[in-house]
Amino acid sequence: MPLTRRALLGSLAATTLVPALAGATSLPRLQARPGRRQLAPEGYPDTEIWGYDGIAPGPVIRVAQGARVQRQLVNALPQATAVHWHGIRIDNAMDGVPHLTQAAVEPGASFDYDFTVPDAGSYWYHAHNHSSEQVARGLHGLLIVDEADAPDVDHDLPLAIDDWRLERADASISGGFDNMHDLSHEGRLGNLVTVNGSFDPSVKVARGDRLRLRLANVANARIFEIGLNGLEGWLVALDGMPLEPVVPVSGSFTLAPAQRADLIVDVTGEAADLLSIEPGGGYGLMRFEVAPGTRARRGTPAALPPNPLPVIANAAAAPLHTMRLMGGMMSGMAGGRLGSTEMNARELAQLGKFWALNGQVDMGHDPFLDLSRGETLRIAFVNETVFPHGMHTHGHHFRTIAADGSLGPWRDTVLVQPRETVQIAMVADNPGKWMLHCHMLEHAAAGMMSWFRVT
Ligand code: C2O
Ligand code: CU
Repeated sequence: MPLTRRALLGSLAATTLVPALAGATSLPRLQARPGRRQLAPEGYPDTEIWGYDGIAPGPVIRVAQGARVQRQLVNALPQATAVHWHGIRIDNAMDGVPHLTQAAVEPGASFDYDFTVPDAGSYWYHAHNHSSEQVARGLHGLLIVDEADAPDVDHDLPLAIDDWRLERADASISGGFDNMHDLSHEGRLGNLVTVNGSFDPSVKVARGDRLRLRLANVANARIFEIGLNGLEGWLVALDGMPLEPVVPVSGSFTLAPAQRADLIVDVTGEAADLLSIEPGGGYGLMRFEVAPGTRARRGTPAALPPNPLPVIANAAAAPLHTMRLMGGMMSGMAGGRLGSTEMNARELAQLGKFWALNGQVDMGHDPFLDLSRGETLRIAFVNETVFPHGMHTHGHHFRTIAADGSLGPWRDTVLVQPRETVQIAMVADNPGKWMLHCHMLEHAAAGMMSWFRVT
């Protein structure tokens, strides 16, 4: 075909020139596009990923608390997409959920994200359309919001922990997204774990250095059990929100998909590692090359400055709503609903739907809750299945409620173990339509999604 001006514009439209040609805004661009990265060990070829600005993880976006984040998402992927800013108590129109807060951004099109970040801490951003495929291909990055008065550390390290499923033959990303087995069991578990896209990353530190580690689990479905070797310190924030007081790390702690944990640790060993501890043995996530140092051990760090979170007063008196986590191959699912159509478990399975929240599948239904702005409520997540689920609320953080009624840390994603019930309390203070879903992305794809409305 002769290269006419129109064809030229057409082909450019899919790459980098869309905003200029469209005369669109001059926001900094975040381009979702294919790229290549050496993920697998040496000897394997590099891997075609989908990434923001063509890299996986995408660029670390770093701003001051209260600042504005402006990015023009340009879609140079073969699929429609949208960006969700996970954990940000954001203006609803910027939440990035197709069909709920915006239209999906078609290939060649763009969307302007423009919002302020009320809270300091470690957050992340990721694709929220066909998430089980798009996040697995690499569409995620960290969003760091700096405290005005940040703790004094020698290294501040954002660490995106990922779990890739690659073909052994050529290290390409395995297809078969949303296959029946992944959808109906634990989700897509991979065969290569990376930190910041590296299979065997290392960082140079000196003995006695103080590090801030910002761990984010960006995997589709893998739950990490994190351990430390040669490092001693404290958990200082979960899902972005400060812990008061800070909590010494002894042994390991769990990092479920989408969760973040901020640690302040001192390098106390001659060698140091971040570990993933799994039943049947663990492995190193990353190494610290430790140079000799003479620094004396410092004391317990102060808690991070508090974020402007709402006050949960008298949680015990707040209305309690039950959300039953249902389905899976093992327990079966009766009377699921897809939209307004009653269907049985077999009909749903034929559509690739294996999970339900209160018997409802996907989001084509009325909100789970209609809340008035400012209202305090409780939700009991009752896990009736034999798999763990990481329940995530958009636009709001919540606090878990312990058996004795005391309130736990602020979170945006809580892991609910098989047969467990977890109660949370929150204040519905952010108007809009918000998703509430399982962050095991195959479970979400297979029906475990709901939403609530705050007006
Ligand atoms: Cu990070 Cu709706 O999710
Ligand atoms: Cu789940």
